[in-house]
Amino acid sequence: MSSITIPFPDDWHVHLRDGDMLDAVVGYTARRFRYSMVMPNVVPPITSTAEAEKYRDRILASTPDDAVDFRPVMALYCSPDIDLADLRAGIDSGVVAAVKYYPAGATTNSESGGTSLLAFRDLFEVLADTDTRLLVHAEATDPAIDIFDREAAFLEDQLAPLCEAMPELLVTVEHVSTRAGVDFVATHPQCAATVTPHHLARERSDLLADGMRPDLYCKPVINSSDDQAALIDAATSGDPAFMLGTDSAPHPTTAKYGPKAKAGVFNAAYGLEVVADVFRNHGALDQLGAFVSSNGCAVYGVDAPEATLELSHEPVDRDLATDLSTSSGDSVVLFGTEEASQWTVTVHN
Ligand code: NCD
Ligand code: ZN
Repeated sequence: MSSITIPFPDDWHVHLRDGDMLDAVVGYTARRFRYSMVMPNVVPPITSTAEAEKYRDRILASTPDDAVDFRPVMALYCSPDIDLADLRAGIDSGVVAAVKYYPAGATTNSESGGTSLLAFRDLFEVLADTDTRLLVHAEATDPAIDIFDREAAFLEDQLAPLCEAMPELLVTVEHVSTRAGVDFVATHPQCAATVTPHHLARERSDLLADGMRPDLYCKPVINSSDDQAALIDAATSGDPAFMLGTDSAPHPTTAKYGPKAKAGVFNAAYGLEVVADVFRNHGALDQLGAFVSSNGCAVYGVDAPEATLELSHEPVDRDLATDLSTSSGDSVVLFGTEEASQWTVTVHN
């Protein structure tokens, strides 16, 4: 048996949605994570401090009583609608923790996104000036570029010139999914990266080889086994630039199982067990606390948590839920049931 006690984790990239989906999913995050960087790609996107504050209030109002030490922090959606004085005020007041750039058309609810990073230079000056991170969905949208090469293409064509032009700008490459992405972060000291449980634990053959699996379909798409190996090496290495961001992104099965599956994996429930399993399989459980807690605390300048969480590699003696239901009757499949059935999790606070 292996067992490890780690600082209570943070999730630096999560989609909590709104309305009855928010009500249905927020508890999973609030019971397992402390700081949670909430993505702004709701409809309509969050582009002002006032909207961010209202969204945070809705999240807190939906949070169940058995939350441990849940601290949602808000990102604005990078768009020409952002007023720079409002952005500065939101950062100063502590409401706005980051700004997230989506390439238009790359992923779920990215229609209001940008077509060029450098077009937002004035906005990025405010971020650099206030040590606020720019969060980047790094994926080219040119249909001529192969889907499995789009992260590398975006990094080279868009993010590299921005990093060169603004070396003082702090950047988080979100849900890094390739060896090229890992190498980019390693060679750009102004960059950190989030890594997801599903990109660590699966590769594209899992997605496509034995029947196409809509529940594993996300953006950026899960890539090759060589890319997966690079992600595992980065996450388990202790390198402080790499931290957990689950990219937990619920979609109802009605939107997943059809001719065009929506992109997103819902992993808030069991993502931690999935990550623990990957670390155990690589003999790196001693690095788990760095990846899920201390690296991110240093990147975002927050204090270490007081609570701890114990993970024991012992089969759980009950059937685990495989999906959840919303109050309007939608269901969402939970990623990682297999791994979760092998781990017992205890919170100490
Ligand atoms: C996310 C979503 O569903 O909001 N989907 C995804 O595949 N990751 C958006 C995103 O982060 O790209
Ligand atoms: Zn996301």
